[in-house]
Amino acid sequence: MTRHATIIGTGSYLPEHVMTNADLERIVDTSDEWIVSRTGISERRVVAEGESTSDLAARAGRIAMERAGLGPDDIDLLLLGTTGPDYIMPSTACMTQAKLGLTCPAVDMMAACSSWIYALSSGAAAIESGRANTVLVIGAEALTRLIDFTDRSTCVLFGDGAGAVVLGVSEEPGVETVVLGADGTGAEQLIIPAGGTVAPATAERVEAHDQYVKMNGSEVFKFAVRVIPKATKQALEASGHSIGDLAWLVPHQANKRIITTIEERLGIPDDRVYLNLSHTGNTSAASIPMALDDLYTSGRLAPGDLLALVGFGAGLTWGAAVVRWTMSVPNEEA
Ligand code: ACO
Repeated sequence: MTRHATIIGTGSYLPEHVMTNADLERIVDTSDEWIVSRTGISERRVVAEGESTSDLAARAGRIAMERAGLGPDDIDLLLLGTTGPDYIMPSTACMTQAKLGLTCPAVDMMAACSSWIYALSSGAAAIESGRANTVLVIGAEALTRLIDFTDRSTCVLFGDGAGAVVLGVSEEPGVETVVLGADGTGAEQLIIPAGGTVAPATAERVEAHDQYVKMNGSEVFKFAVRVIPKATKQALEASGHSIGDLAWLVPHQANKRIITTIEERLGIPDDRVYLNLSHTGNTSAASIPMALDDLYTSGRLAPGDLLALVGFGAGLTWGAAVVRWTMSVPNEEA
């Protein structure tokens, strides 16, 4: 039998605290009207004091494992995509592994907002090669900790959350194709300048807020609408499909205007493009698996549905995965 990877469980978790656009109006010079019209975002979730990326990751991962009917000893590999790790060292995957009581190898995949698609690709490859039978693939972010709440051009965009899937072995393809890309010449367009080895944290750098996300918004916008339609078409062609075959396009939830432009360039109707960013904001590596879990738990995915999952982010990086859905419609307990 040819070994394929398929999604056998999904999960997601949003922290409890809601930060609305009205809350942001009290912090920086902005307005609900500006934020909604430029981004489509109305509110986002923010981690509580003492809560970190691995806490959110473990919550989402536990739900995905339960839905897959697997316990801690049944997971062969943990891959965790994040832009905002708990620490530079050790990995957030190891922090999460301990919280879930897993004993398998665990590693972070860092490709900013594309991290989860990169992790999905590696997880599927591990299954196809026979190195693993079950892989937990998590995307998790407590990114509001790395955002400058005096910078109105970035602080209105991001939110916290986590999403996860479990990949298992199947005879029929589930994860059909993944196309990945990177262009490191665009590294400075979206960057956290301080806290790494180039510019270790110093009092002066912290004073200058260099430990926070800096973004050239218009360049990131142009990059996203250039690469994503192309990568989506490449992934569809490589798996012998076309736009018309898609039940859903599930894009990284960065900005409604970016998603609308991608939609227009691909010629896919509005009602087949999933959007939930109005109440999550941009949750970076978590956004695609969270969107997938929303679609699944709300009964909008049926076995046989074809999905394109597409992401882009700092690096610059991007990725497009074509996935055949094989999980049955959730029952009321799910
Ligand atoms: N409230 C009010 N005014 C604002 C705000 C705000 N929150 N932010 C910026 N402005 C002002 C600017 O100062 C500027 O004012 P000026 O004309 O007086 O100088 C004006 O609004 C227009 O600013 P622009 O940056 O040109 O606004 P634009 O329409 O390009 O929208 C945005 C900015 C939303 C950031 C847009 O460029 C964008 O969506 N870029 C992509 C960003 C993104 O999605 N990044 C994440 C993707 S990758 C990842 O997920 C990590």
